[in-house]
Amino acid sequence: METLSRTTDYFDLVKSRRLALAEWISKELIDTKEIVWEVGCGHGHFLTAYAAAHPNALCIGLDIEKDRITRADKKKKRAKLTNLHFLRADALDFIAALPEQIKFSSVYVLFPDPWPKRRHHKNRIMQPEFIEVVSKKVMLSGRMYFRTDHKPYFDSVYKNVTMEKQLNITNDPWPFDKETVFQARSKGHNSLNAIKVK
Ligand SMILES: C[S@@+](CC[C@H](N)C(=O)[O-])C[C@H]1O[C@@H](n2cnc3c(N)ncnc32)[C@H](O)[C@@H]1O
Repeated sequence: METLSRTTDYFDLVKSRRLALAEWISKELIDTKEIVWEVGCGHGHFLTAYAAAHPNALCIGLDIEKDRITRADKKKKRAKLTNLHFLRADALDFIAALPEQIKFSSVYVLFPDPWPKRRHHKNRIMQPEFIEVVSKKVMLSGRMYFRTDHKPYFDSVYKNVTMEKQLNITNDPWPFDKETVFQARSKGHNSLNAIKVK
């Protein structure tokens, strides 16, 4: 009985979060056509610097951890940025709630959890299904950027992106650099820059 009510509570929580997200999108993104999106923004170092350097871009950073969004929001407020929002939300919930006309001009996935053990690979965010869903929301000639310090994860994402027909991996330079918390802890990293094609 207790397990059932815990499960019910969990589903109610997920449902209420999704409703709140849809409400936020309908209010805040009413005239928006394109956004720069960061998945797993952590403490918001990258996107705060990016938004400050690109005042005409609307930037949205997501993280599922509340305390990370709280810290990211503090940075945004200190920098007085109006073109930046940090949301506590799951990446796929956000995509599902986005109206058809809103596309990503760029997507950044920086140092996502590598889940190094084979039995945990299923928890990695950059799975083929995720890459496909995201690439559908990237505008034509838009970009998907991925960076990690875990070479086996990089290799598997490289392979997954190669298999995605709507994305071509390029040798173009990384467009904007700002060290993230996990980047600062790493000893080196690999980066992938892919462009959306028809
Ligand atoms: C290893 S941290 C990297 C944080 C930051 N990008 C950096 O480089 O410092 C990965 C982050 O992704 C977030 N995350 C994991 N799965 C997510 C999901 N489905 N949607 C949104 N954020 C997610 C985690 O909460 C965590 O903050």
